[in-house]
Amino acid sequence: VAVTFQLTSDGRTSHIEVGRDLLSSYALPARPDRSLVVVLHQPGSRHIAERIGASLAAGYDVHSLGLPDRDQAKAWSEVASLYEWLASTGLGRNDTIVGVGGGALTDVAGFVAATWLRGVESAYVPTTLLGAVDAAIGGKTGINVAGKNLVGAFWHPASVVIDLGVLEALPVALKREGFAEVVKAGFIADPTIVEAFLRDGVDVALEDVVTPAVKVKVDVVSEDYREVGRRAILNFGHTIGHAIEFSSGMSHGDAVAVGMVAAGAISEARYGCALPIRAALERLGLPVSAHGRADEFLELVRLDKKRDSGGVRMVLLTDLGAPVVDHVSTDELRIGLSAIGVAS
Ligand SMILES: NC(=O)c1ccc[n+]([C@@H]2O[C@H](COP(=O)([O-])OP(=O)(O)OC[C@H]3O[C@@H](n4cnc5c(N)ncnc54)[C@H](O)[C@@H]3O)[C@@H](O)[C@H]2O)c1
Repeated sequence: VAVTFQLTSDGRTSHIEVGRDLLSSYALPARPDRSLVVVLHQPGSRHIAERIGASLAAGYDVHSLGLPDRDQAKAWSEVASLYEWLASTGLGRNDTIVGVGGGALTDVAGFVAATWLRGVESAYVPTTLLGAVDAAIGGKTGINVAGKNLVGAFWHPASVVIDLGVLEALPVALKREGFAEVVKAGFIADPTIVEAFLRDGVDVALEDVVTPAVKVKVDVVSEDYREVGRRAILNFGHTIGHAIEFSSGMSHGDAVAVGMVAAGAISEARYGCALPIRAALERLGLPVSAHGRADEFLELVRLDKKRDSGGVRMVLLTDLGAPVVDHVSTDELRIGLSAIGVAS
């Protein structure tokens, strides 16, 4: 049974559907005068994009294009060629760009849709876990010019279709890494997600974790679309995680996992709570420690963009599912780093 969510901000509504076997009959929300659909994909989502293209071809003229893998697709030179290609297809104001792939692909598809002809309709089919529970939901689009995600726009996809069968079939390494962002939603807002992972590990039923994690993202974004407040809780684990990703080259999901252990340790020290963060991540086979020297990490954390004039701000938990955003002292950061094996 498919679960649907609606996300309305800036007067636009995204229809989000989560379920199984949703792609063979893939359809776009009805729209008068749409004649052409462009389907963009990345190497890992090509076969899925082909199914979607075939389903859409019954009603529209369909053009498909494969983009380079991962964040290479978000480079300016690639975006510029993509605009040239869109011109050659004749994509008009009433037409639609469908992005099929992970977060990198939907970020660029959304950005191009937001800017082509000053904005055309977009639709996403996220094919990674991070894409499904995070990147495809919430209207942020972006490309990497002058720095990661520094150029972007808020632009709601008209529809997001999340097929759990597609996510279940992901290669195990990609799946494990993606679970870091799924369990993050549990830590900050829904303990049932954490319980499901503790119980079933990587064999968890995706209905028990992905569907509620999508709901967490929808709820948080509905409250704070432009990230002036509550949306910041989605950065749990990311302040120290980014420093680890940058300094060690660890994948994003793995680095966020380690960052969540550090943020959890700071939370426990400050609020006297006991959090099952390390246990849940170990159950998933995600890393819980990093190599390096504390001073080097402290410097990277201070450079992080979440820093403001008052010092380093981090998302902490007063209990499972109860986040707060607050300044942390250098001593507290050292507590977090020592919990992940980073010596002073
Ligand atoms: N817009 C937002 O709010 C937001 C939020 C978080 C992250 N992001 C962005 O998302 C990106 C990361 O997304 P990601 O982790 O999904 O990575 P990704 O898009 O780089 O994809 C990771 C890999 O998975 C492959 N792949 C995709 N679908 C597959 C499938 N079904 N089977 C096998 N392989 C498949 C891809 O080809 C790629 O090699 C970053 O660019 C980040 O900036 C955006």
